[in-house]
Amino acid sequence: MSHAPGANVVPIDPDHLDQRAVWRVAEVLRGGGIVALPTETVYGLGCHAFDAKAVARVFAAKGRPATDPLIVHVDGPAQLATVTDGPLPGAAAALADAFWPGPLTLVVPRHPALPPSVTAGLDRVAVRAPSHPVFVAVLAECGFPIAAPSANRFGHVSPTSAAHVVTDLGDECDLIVDSGPCERGLESTVVTFTDDAAVVLRHGAVTIEALRAACPLPVLDVRADHRTAAASPGHDERHYSPTTPTVAVRAAVLDGATPLDGLPASGVTYVGYRDRPPHLPAGWAVESFGDLARIEDVARDLYATLRRVDEGQPERIVVELTGVEGLGRAIDDRLTRAASSRVTDDVGALAAALART
Ligand code: TXA
Ligand code: MG
Repeated sequence: MSHAPGANVVPIDPDHLDQRAVWRVAEVLRGGGIVALPTETVYGLGCHAFDAKAVARVFAAKGRPATDPLIVHVDGPAQLATVTDGPLPGAAAALADAFWPGPLTLVVPRHPALPPSVTAGLDRVAVRAPSHPVFVAVLAECGFPIAAPSANRFGHVSPTSAAHVVTDLGDECDLIVDSGPCERGLESTVVTFTDDAAVVLRHGAVTIEALRAACPLPVLDVRADHRTAAASPGHDERHYSPTTPTVAVRAAVLDGATPLDGLPASGVTYVGYRDRPPHLPAGWAVESFGDLARIEDVARDLYATLRRVDEGQPERIVVELTGVEGLGRAIDDRLTRAASSRVTDDVGALAAALART
């Protein structure tokens, strides 16, 4: 794997943990450094969660607004107790039992000793226990929780490899751990709680269907059920975005029934889920997110595909939504944000959106 000169990359094989390398990473974190670390979802930019100066460096490195709180990562009950205000509430405890360690983030009352900047001044903290063996080993060696947002420039596509981190933040990180590509490829699902419901603030690697099967409370979707009531910080419409202007389409748009009037003849890369769709302008390039019948693979490769297409520097990108439930909700959420909510339902709207961007 090639990296930018100067980037301080430490390879750690998740299957054969090099304890000396883990020790080195922990030393840097203990000293207030910021380190890109692999998780099962995406790479995170980690720091000592109780070191307010290190936390400030993480916000600055990403260009992230101070109003957008960080997820705190723990390796078990002892570290958890240092960041939450008392034991997890019942429904949160049930979800932690079912999904930790893993890609689920719970928003719960925060411990008063946690630096306020971690939670952007909110009285709740987002916490999760990751399953990636390298992250778990670093947490154990550190003995303190690690605050970590995704290791991308603010608003850009999340990183699922160390090379992606080098591209975005190579000069900002004290160390970048390279443990190969992330297994899940989509961020954790973020869930908060009201008195009588769990509310999904961000769809992610754990599906809402799986949450419903494990949660003693009803599980609501913030986008459908709580649009204004339970607004989450840091959920900008434009996020997870390529630099190329991007428009999303629903699968049925280019079904061949409607003439392709008004669409540009070239300069567009179309990204769908199969071989070249039969009804595209002949001059469009085509890439694929993979086979929708293997949606875990689509999720795992989603950000790498978006980055690769973006690097090809087309004039416009058109991404096709999955339109399916389960992981499709999270994939469609990210694609919608990548397109700054420009989602089109027919050829006319697609042509207009492409002309405007
Ligand atoms: O899979 C993941 O969650 C990755 C890995 C590194 O753990 N992390 C990640 O972090 O995606 P980030 O910072 O890119 O996204 C965190 C999300 C944001 O949407 C943020 O608004 C929300 O979690 N969040 C964090 N703290 C919160 C809080 N106290 N209340 C509500 N939402 C919160
Ligand atoms: Mg992020």
